[in-house]
This record gives sequence, C-alpha cells and structure tokens, in this order.
Amino acid sequence: MGGFFMAQNKHADRFSSTGFIMSAVGSAVGLGNMWKFPYVTGQYGGAAFFLLFMVCLVLVGLPILLAELAVGRGGRGNASSSLTKLSGSKSWGALGFLSVAGSFFIMSFYGIVAGWTLHYAVLSFTGELFSTQDYAGLFGRFMNSWLPIGWQLVVMLVTALVLIRGVSEGIERFNKVLIPSLVVLLLLLAVQALSLEGAGEGISFFLKPDFSKLTAESALVALGQAFFSMSLGMGTMVTYGAYVQKSQSLGKATIAVGVGNVLYALLAGLIIFPTIFVFSIEPTQGAGLVFIALPAAFSAMPLGAVFGGLFFVLLAFAAITSAVSVLEVPVAYASETFGWSRPVAVMLVGLLCFLAGVPSALSLGEDPWLSFGGRALFDWVDFVCSNVVLPISGLVITIFAGYVWKGVADEARLSQAWFRIWLFMLRFVAPVLVLLVLLYYAGVIRI
Ligand code: PFF
Repeated sequence: MGGFFMAQNKHADRFSSTGFIMSAVGSAVGLGNMWKFPYVTGQYGGAAFFLLFMVCLVLVGLPILLAELAVGRGGRGNASSSLTKLSGSKSWGALGFLSVAGSFFIMSFYGIVAGWTLHYAVLSFTGELFSTQDYAGLFGRFMNSWLPIGWQLVVMLVTALVLIRGVSEGIERFNKVLIPSLVVLLLLLAVQALSLEGAGEGISFFLKPDFSKLTAESALVALGQAFFSMSLGMGTMVTYGAYVQKSQSLGKATIAVGVGNVLYALLAGLIIFPTIFVFSIEPTQGAGLVFIALPAAFSAMPLGAVFGGLFFVLLAFAAITSAVSVLEVPVAYASETFGWSRPVAVMLVGLLCFLAGVPSALSLGEDPWLSFGGRALFDWVDFVCSNVVLPISGLVITIFAGYVWKGVADEARLSQAWFRIWLFMLRFVAPVLVLLVLLYYAGVIRI
C-alpha cells in the first residue's frame, strides 16, 4: 500500500552509459528539428542560418548542456533540488523551479503537436490524407474538431506509460528501441527525397550559404533554436544528469548529443528541402509547412502514402522521446518534493499537464476566444517558454556553474585545457549571448 503512494528508498535507478546517450539524443531530437527547424531555416536564409545554428550550438549549446548534466549528477536531485543541494541555498532551488514550471508548460503544448503527427500518420497510411487537394482546409477542420485533444491524450498516455516504469526499465529501454528506428526511417526518407528529380535546388538552398542573408535577428533566432533543440533551460538535462553513473564521461556524452542532434537536423533538412523545392513550395511558410505543404508534396509523389506515413511516424517517434524527457522534469520534482511514488507522480502530473494543454489546443480553432494580443494561447505558451523561460533558466545554469558552484571541476572531470575553455564560455560567452536573446524578445533591444 505505502509502496504505491509513497516513494520507497530502493536501489538508485540509473542509466547505463549507452542508454543515457540514447535518451539524451532522444530528448534533443524532436519536433524542434523537424517542425520548427525547417521553417525558421526557410525564413532566415537557408544554409547561412544552418551555419549560425551550428556556431550557437558550439559556443552556447554544448557548454550549457555540459553544465546542466554536471549540476544534475552533482546534486543527484531534480531540476530544483539539485541547485539547492549544491549551493546550500533555497534561493537557487527557487530559480531552478522556473525550469520545472517551464517543462510542465512545454509539455502541455508539445504534446499537442506530437498528437497532430500521430493523426497525420494514420491519415496517411489509410490514404485519407490524399483524398483531398485542400490541405489547408483539412488542417483547419482538424484544428476545429476535438480530435487534437484526443490525440494529445494518447501522447500523454504513452509518455506516462514509459515514465511509470522508471529510468532504466522505462526511459532507457524506450529510447534504445526508438532511436535506432528513427535513424533507419530518417535514412530511408533522405534517400528517397534526394532521389526526387530536381532535388538539387532544395539541397543548395539548405547547404550553400548566402552570407548576405545573415542578420543580427537571424543570429538571435538561431541561438533560440539551438537552445530549444538541445533541450536546454528546461531542466531536462539536469534531471537526466541525476541518473548518470559517476563513471560516465560527461564531456564525451555532451559531444555525442551535440553531434547526434546536428546530424539529425542535417538529415531532416535533406528530407524536407528537396521535397518542398521539387513541389514548388515556399520554404518560408510558417508552422503549417509540415502539416499543410508537405502532405501536398507527398500526395504528388510515387508511393506517397507510404513515404508520407513513414515521415509522420518518424516525427511522432522523435516527438515522444522528447516528451518523455520533458514530463520527467515535473514528475521527478513532484515525487521528490511530495514523497510520492513514481506511478502516482506520473499519473497526477500527466493528468494536470494534459488539462493545462487543453485550452492551448482549443485556441487554434477558429473561435478567437482564446487569442489575445494577436496570438493564440498556444503560441503564447510556446513563445513564453521558448523565448523567456528557456533563456532565463539557461542563464541561471551558466551563472551557477560558472561562478557559484565550487565543485564544478570535480564533477565535469575535463582535462585542464578543456576545463579552461569551458569555464570561459560559461562565464563570458554564453551568458552574454543568452542575455541578448532575452532582451531582444522582451523588446528591450531592437534590431
Ligand atoms: N529538444 C526538443 C526538440 O527539439 O523538439 C524539444 C525540447 C525537449 C525542448 C525538452 C525543451 C526540453 F526541455
């Protein structure tokens, strides 16, 4: 009885070393790479933007990722308590709590988009997706129905089922199956997209940089994208870090996750850009690119139902491995803070998070009652989480690891030279760049 409701002190549940890499890659690789990345890359100049994204990843993304993992493993707690334990001050824990709240709300809208991908996978396999020419209308009707909420519930249930089983039996096992499947799907779809006649134009848009397109604004957007895409500032990597064994090299894991994420974004671009160029779709379209423009392209290609279906399955897999990591943050927090057992924490937090997402899902319908200031509630939650909470929490971590926490070197265990470079990035480069993003989105600086 007590075991179900209250946490029991059993043997610590940890990742194996490959299990951790796969789970961290699973968190990083997600809708950010396949849904956000193509349209921001399209809007901000293709290859030049991709290059900026990589620079941001190296200068800011990797140093903060390592800092988050070190804080998690050093504190062996959740995204808030790890900071309290390492600093001895509750104020740091309170700052860490911001990321716990942020991940809760990220999950609330992320689960919605993940649900769309499942719906589109089903529509594609049944052929229903291709019985129309009006993809904007199809998407609009879907948005105006209750179906997105049904699918959001499915995503939440799958995520909860994985989390209930714990770290090694749940999160790790799930990622160990899904990540290799993701790689196979990605390669298959990339080969298919690259073999389309006229794919070259899309490839050169994506890979041949036009530096005249580089602006200060695109640099800030690239930084925001690097952050979201590496799952930073939301406590995910702190939480996962707490489950990493002491013997694992955090430096190597950081590089592996960074490389995995870039390769994935690269392959996703090689699927999406040739496809949209061959079918004369504007790459600058907004978020509808994946759900409106791409189905039209799939409908016009041979075996489109199969490739379209596989594409949306790929998206769904990528989304759910990320969702698992996002929901784990408030779950770990609730179970440690309130002493709840894992099943209880997962069920309660999952239910609350699902309910919190319902108004966002409804806000995308035609009724304007959940829109204000020119944005639907859904977009507000995304905007505030991605552009405000993420950078603030990122800043908290850089300052904490760079200036406050004395044990940082012992936990990171880098060589002298690498440690110096890392500390320099954490102290001087990352905070300045992240602050710029924050001020830009707060409207304090205009470019
Ligand atoms: N990195 C994920 C993606 O690119 O889709 C999304 C994400 C996961 C963002 C976890 C934030 C987070 F904490």
